Amino acid sequence: MMRAAVIFCFSGTGNTRWVSERLREHLTTEDYRVNLLDIEDVITQDENAIMEAIRTADHVGIAFPVHAFNAPRIVFDFIDIMPDSSPEPKYVFLYRTSGDPFINGGSTRFVRDRLREKGYIVRLERLFIMPSNIIVPFPAPLIKQLYRIAEGQCRDFASQVLGEDDSIHHDPEHIALFSRIFSKLETWGAKVAGGHFRATESCTYCGICSDGCPTSNITDDGGVLVFHDRCILCMRCIYQCPSGSLVNPYLKFFALKEGYDNDPILSDASIPGEYLTSATRGYYKRYARFLGLIR
Ligand SMILES: Cc1cc2nc3c(=O)[nH]c(=O)nc-3n(C[C@H](O)[C@H](O)[C@H](O)COP(=O)(O)O)c2cc1C
Ligand code: SF4
Ligand code: SF4
Repeated sequence: MMRAAVIFCFSGTGNTRWVSERLREHLTTEDYRVNLLDIEDVITQDENAIMEAIRTADHVGIAFPVHAFNAPRIVFDFIDIMPDSSPEPKYVFLYRTSGDPFINGGSTRFVRDRLREKGYIVRLERLFIMPSNIIVPFPAPLIKQLYRIAEGQCRDFASQVLGEDDSIHHDPEHIALFSRIFSKLETWGAKVAGGHFRATESCTYCGICSDGCPTSNITDDGGVLVFHDRCILCMRCIYQCPSGSLVNPYLKFFALKEGYDNDPILSDASIPGEYLTSATRGYYKRYARFLGLIR
C-alpha cells in the first residue's frame, strides 16, 4: 500500500535543506513518496494548501536549524497556522540541525509543546550536527566529515520513520529554562538587529537579499533597500550577497568573515574528509563523543 510523508522544512543557509533532501532520497520508494515543502513558501499560501498536504500524508515531518537552543520564530508562526490534527493524530517526526551538540534535548521542547496544543504528538526526533554558520568557522575536513556522517544518519532516520519508531530526546526542566531564556533574547535581538543592516557602496541592487529573505525583512523601495524588524537572523542575506555589501554593527562577531558556502569544500577532492577521531581532544572532543567516535 502506498504511504506518504510531508516534510515542512525551514533552512536559513542550506544545512537543514541538505539533510531534508538526503532524507527524502532515503525515504522515497515505489511505495512511499515524500512531499518536501519550504516553510517560508507555505506560510504565505492559503491555509487550505497546508491542510491538504497534511491530510494526504501518513507521516508529518518538521525540520529546522537550532537558533539559540530553540527553533527559529518562523517555525512557530507556521505551527500556528497548521490545521488541528484529525481525530486520529498523524505520526509526527522532528529533526533539526545545529552547529554544536550542546543541549541536545532542549531545542525541540517548545516545538513539541506547540504541536501538542494543535493535536500533533511528536513521536520521533533527531539532532544532526552540521557545520556552524556563525561565530567560528569549522575546519574544512570537519565540514566534510559532518556531511558524510549526516548522510549515514539520514539513512538510519529514514528507516526509523518508516518503522514509526518512538524516540524523544530527554529535556530536563533546567535545560528547558535555559532554552527559553536564550531563545527569547535571540528573538528580540534578531528584531532589533534586523533594522540595522546597511548596504555599502559596492551594492549593485541585484535584489538577491530582498528576494531571498524568508520574512520579507528586506524590501526594495524603488532602488533603495529598506530593512524592517522582521529578521530571524537566518544569515542568508549576508552570506548570499555576491559583493559582500551587507553590513550590520550588531552582527560583527556573529557572521563568519569568510562567508558560509560549503559547496567548494565538498567538491574539493584534495580536502580530507576525516577530522574527528577517537583521539580527538580539546574543543571538538564533545563532537567526537556525541557522534559515537569516543566511547
Ligand atoms: C541565529 C543563530 C543561532 C544559532 N544558535 C545555535 C545554537 O544555539 N546551538 C547550535 O548548536 N547552533 C546554533 N546555530 C548554528 C546553526 O544551528 C547551524 O549551523 C545550522 O545547521 C544552520 O542550519 P541552516 O543552514 O539550515 O540554516 C545558530 C545559528 C544562527 C544563525
Ligand atoms: S544582495 Fe548585496 S548587492 Fe544584491 S541588493 Fe543585496 S546588498 Fe546589494
Ligand atoms: S534580513 Fe537577512 S538574516 Fe534577517 S531574516 Fe532576512 S535573510 Fe535572514
